[in-house]
Amino acid sequence: MIIGVLVLSALCAPKYEEASSYYDDVNDEYKKPSFINSDTLKFIPSTNLSPSEAVPVLVWDAVQKCPIIKPMVWGMIPPWTSGDYKSGSYTTHNCRIENVKESRLYSAPLTAGKRCVILCEGYYEWKSTVGKHKQPCFLYKAQSPGMKPENESHWSDGKWSKSQGWVGPSLTYLAGLYSAFESKKDSEPILSSTVITMRSSPAVSHIHHRMPAILSSPEVVKCREKKMATL
Ligand SMILES: *[C@@H]1O[C@H](CO)[C@@H](O)[C@H](O)[C@H]1NC(C)=O
Repeated sequence: MIIGVLVLSALCAPKYEEASSYYDDVNDEYKKPSFINSDTLKFIPSTNLSPSEAVPVLVWDAVQKCPIIKPMVWGMIPPWTSGDYKSGSYTTHNCRIENVKESRLYSAPLTAGKRCVILCEGYYEWKSTVGKHKQPCFLYKAQSPGMKPENESHWSDGKWSKSQGWVGPSLTYLAGLYSAFESKKDSEPILSSTVITMRSSPAVSHIHHRMPAILSSPEVVKCREKKMATL
């Protein structure tokens, strides 16, 4: 488990729609997934997002037959949770890829095809340095030359069009699983998600021995249409 990971998800909802746009080959144009807020769970952009807060998550909507973005609790709520899910202490924000099939919590969403993509500008990892000091490192997907996801103006300067899609910094797409928790108190199920983690690639192993599974593009949701569950 990576304890120290915080995700930077500081953009407003319309930016996530633009930046996770995908090419629609039927209509020969780029399309944006809609960010659908829920009454029970609000996404609040933050430069310091921790487990138990809402993260923007890309999923396949089997009814509309297109990808959509929904806020989900970061940290999967176990279905056997009783009482207020918010009072639970979360250790479910990361899911080790090595144990996912055997896991009591994660095997069901995996089998049901409840894959998702957690959208962020990047994530923090704490690098151990000499003594007890730890230094935060901001990590993100490889960018086009000159693009710096940590620079806010690069996001505000980014442009979206039907013909070109998103031209700006690239989001970092974290592979995850999600589930819907039927709470007695709330009118609609609470969606929650977990980030899949794996052994670090050589490029980042000097920082930490584990890393999130990072996808190359948001299209994975589209490609996996048949395997995705109905939301
Ligand atoms: C952020 O990007 C803008 C536009 O490219 C640039 O003018 C500015 O100096 C950058 N800020 C930082 C802190 O690097």
